[in-house]
Amino acid sequence: MTKRSWAEPWKIKMVEPIAMTSRSERDTAIAEAGYNTFLLRSDDVYIDLLTDSGTSAMSDHQWAGLMVGDEAYAGSRSFHHLTEAVRDIYGYEELIPTHQGRGAEHILSQILIEPGDVIPGNMYFTTTKFHQEYAGGTFVDVIIDEAHDPSSDHPFKGNVDLAKLQGVIDAYGAARIPYVSVETNVNMAGGQPMSMANLRATFELCSRHGILVMLDATRALENAWFIKQREAGYETRSVAEILAEICSYSDGATVSSKKDNLVNIGGFLALRDPVLAQEARALLVAFEGLHTYGGMSGRDMEALARGIREMVATDDHVAARVGQVEYLGNNLIKAGVPVVHPIGGHGVFLDARSIMSHIPQSEFPAQALAAAIYLDSGVRSMERGVVSAGRDPETGDHHYPQLELVRLTIPRRVYTQAHMDVVTESVFEVFQHREAIGGLRFTYEPEKLRFFQARFEPVQPWEF
Ligand code: F0G
Repeated sequence: MTKRSWAEPWKIKMVEPIAMTSRSERDTAIAEAGYNTFLLRSDDVYIDLLTDSGTSAMSDHQWAGLMVGDEAYAGSRSFHHLTEAVRDIYGYEELIPTHQGRGAEHILSQILIEPGDVIPGNMYFTTTKFHQEYAGGTFVDVIIDEAHDPSSDHPFKGNVDLAKLQGVIDAYGAARIPYVSVETNVNMAGGQPMSMANLRATFELCSRHGILVMLDATRALENAWFIKQREAGYETRSVAEILAEICSYSDGATVSSKKDNLVNIGGFLALRDPVLAQEARALLVAFEGLHTYGGMSGRDMEALARGIREMVATDDHVAARVGQVEYLGNNLIKAGVPVVHPIGGHGVFLDARSIMSHIPQSEFPAQALAAAIYLDSGVRSMERGVVSAGRDPETGDHHYPQLELVRLTIPRRVYTQAHMDVVTESVFEVFQHREAIGGLRFTYEPEKLRFFQARFEPVQPWEF
């Protein structure tokens, strides 16, 4: 059979014009945004690769769902559709809807974590770690070492290091570990998957010690696709089957539905244990909303229920989604730009530590690179390095993560191959003139989750 390219299994029905800005307009915009791409106005952005979160294009079927959403305060029909979709596709019985992923993380952390507890996980995600610490816990990273090395071609860089996990259990005792926090397709590692064998082994190890496994299944679909591509025995399985198997090795999951699930807002906590689910619902009504809507409107739940089924209806959707990301990544590799290997599921991660080796990490090389790419072309990306990592609460020093990255995150079903070509051209242009880009320093530094609202200025005026 002829091998076809990753071309999309959809066509475009409606378009949204985007701004083409001049360099002088962008000079003003980035200065006003304090060199933080989070603080740019979207009207000043040409191709928006800040995030794949809530930026997907919904299908006509999902848009039609908005019209038939049931806005009943209690017992909404759309809630039941959502519950059935999560049961059918993810396999969890108990569904607790939330306004988005962090709402689910908040509820989960509050019901399971006691002050002094330790939560091992395969690298951190910013909001997940925040909620674990907010509940009095301490996060401990147990991802394999390869995850911290951008040049390692390990096919499953999201894997849990079982020896490290065993070490944490030995050091603190199972009683102080309420659950292990396992992220599928690890965002901060560059959208890197874990293998089914590793997930199964993690679940078995935890089960032996009576420790729960809670997935962050936000991008589990993309993980399922990589398992199909890379793990022996899964080549002919559908992503739907693989996704269900992933979830079978867990006691529950938090999901930000703004990613895999193809909606602009929403999320959920899913559990197997009905007693735990009751505890979660008791908090839900205080923090999110009644247990049959959480933080979502009926129409949002309807679109979400449809998105969950649509993402796995065939393998073609995820093949094209990851195919587009790999297209961009491979073009950048061909151009000689250092990126995280292998190319991840939701974006291409530029290795800013290597590209900007003339800037010390204390002057935020990835933050500077993201600002420079915006200046060059209006392409918006995101820092994932020392600014995102924050400070050590005990010493007050910056955390200096090994990964100092700029993320070019691809929204689902939004941009074309030609847009990806423009991104390649711009990143290559900036790469060639990187010596002209200098470091940054804070003019405003928020105490928590500082990357969202921090402001910077160049340490020395840039020649760029
Ligand atoms: N878990 C992961 C792995 C995420 O990537 C995100 C969000 C969340 C949880 C939180 O979900 O935003 O719905 O509250 N990631 C976005 C990003 C913000 O850009 O990577 P949320």
